[in-house]
Amino acid sequence: MPKMWAGVTAGRTDPLADDFNSSIRFDSRMYRQDIKGSIAHAAMLTKQGILTQGEGDALKEGLTGILKDLESGALEIDLSCEDIHMFVEQELTRRIGDTGKKLHTARSRNDQVAQDLRMYLREECDEIAALIKALIKALADQAEAHKASIMPGYTHLQRAQPVSFGHHLMAYAMMLLRDLDRLSDCKKRMNISPIGSCALAGTTYDTDRRMEAELLGFDGISLNSMDGVSDRDFAVELLGVLSILMMHLSRLSEEIILWASWEFKFIDLSDAYTTGSSIMPQKRNADMAELVRGKAGRVFGGLMGLLTVLKGLPLAYNKDMQEDKEGVFDACDTVKMCLKVFAPMLASMQVRTDNMLRAAQTGFINATDLADYLVRKGLPFRSAYKISGQVVARCMAEGQVLETLPIETYREFSPLFDEDLYGEIDLKTCVDKRVSEGGTSEASVEKQIAYVRAVLDHG
Ligand code: ARG
Repeated sequence: MPKMWAGVTAGRTDPLADDFNSSIRFDSRMYRQDIKGSIAHAAMLTKQGILTQGEGDALKEGLTGILKDLESGALEIDLSCEDIHMFVEQELTRRIGDTGKKLHTARSRNDQVAQDLRMYLREECDEIAALIKALIKALADQAEAHKASIMPGYTHLQRAQPVSFGHHLMAYAMMLLRDLDRLSDCKKRMNISPIGSCALAGTTYDTDRRMEAELLGFDGISLNSMDGVSDRDFAVELLGVLSILMMHLSRLSEEIILWASWEFKFIDLSDAYTTGSSIMPQKRNADMAELVRGKAGRVFGGLMGLLTVLKGLPLAYNKDMQEDKEGVFDACDTVKMCLKVFAPMLASMQVRTDNMLRAAQTGFINATDLADYLVRKGLPFRSAYKISGQVVARCMAEGQVLETLPIETYREFSPLFDEDLYGEIDLKTCVDKRVSEGGTSEASVEKQIAYVRAVLDHG
């Protein structure tokens, strides 16, 4: 059969070329958006008197029937069609006859595909946002339970200062909150309808683009027809947002993998999210976290892929742009899977507060507080820093920690040292004293949790 687009050519292509050219294997997932878009298009054409009421009704009925049959499984997508748009039109014409051929008046596949993709991805934004929220909630719940559980905070992966595990987790909650914000911002720019741009130059028909956009829940229409059909920046932006999100999830995954190792043993992952080894019976591998870390690479790849596809394209539509879909679909699928497994994995992990505290007790992570103690007694910070360093060196040489070094030894370094220093370098004091806004004190962590929960509820 010659192609629907057979015009100046006979429309008889080599089957290999057909296969290469076709996108239906991956764009059929947009069937719902495509059909809803066509229903709105038919309504607009009818209202404008471009089609008669009878034609409009027939198109609507035909399209609604196709959607219903696809949803119920009564109708299967014909994979020999070039893409989902061609399939729907072909099926419509098969069902209602020649009127079906009138649907494509005052539009082109170029504006149609751009609109379908925007509609499809805006729904993905909503699904992903709901999953991010569930993950933030799991983080906030664990943070609440561990707002007073002391662990070493690290810089350079060297023990640095004591923090609470709750504080550490809330750092990720804040990152994810920004991911949520970026996602909603991206959706705002995405939710603009290009339909009516037609092939590239607009149309001579008296269309009502705004009506059509409104029927489909868009916030507005594109204001330049060539821009409308040419750009895929909304998909690039979504891939960018998802890449940043995956970068955050990957860092948290890396920490979970470290914390679950015997070297740290700060957490035990639930059996439900741990795998064994085929040869080593003792293994509890954090495969879920490792996979999330690995899949970040795949999402970054999608972003680079699409940027590269677009960077050299002259306006307006080029077939290269058919390559926009697989990467962004895969990124959405991947991100959703990662988020779905991450939230329950976090919620079900057991926190080994005993091991965290033990790790915090070595490594001299209260040395800054010792220096601060001297500063409060009147010493300039640089001098206090130096003395504290000498005290730490002495402890190391004698196998002591700051808490066990006798006061007489302290006095050898400075007469400003007094018995009250022991209270100041107590780990719990160190954490509770960090009352600056956003610090690790219990009150501050509580405030962070309340803020994040309020944003989730109302923001
Ligand atoms: N399958 C095509 C795509 O995904 C639809 C647009 C085709 N337009 C064209 N002029 N060949 O981009």
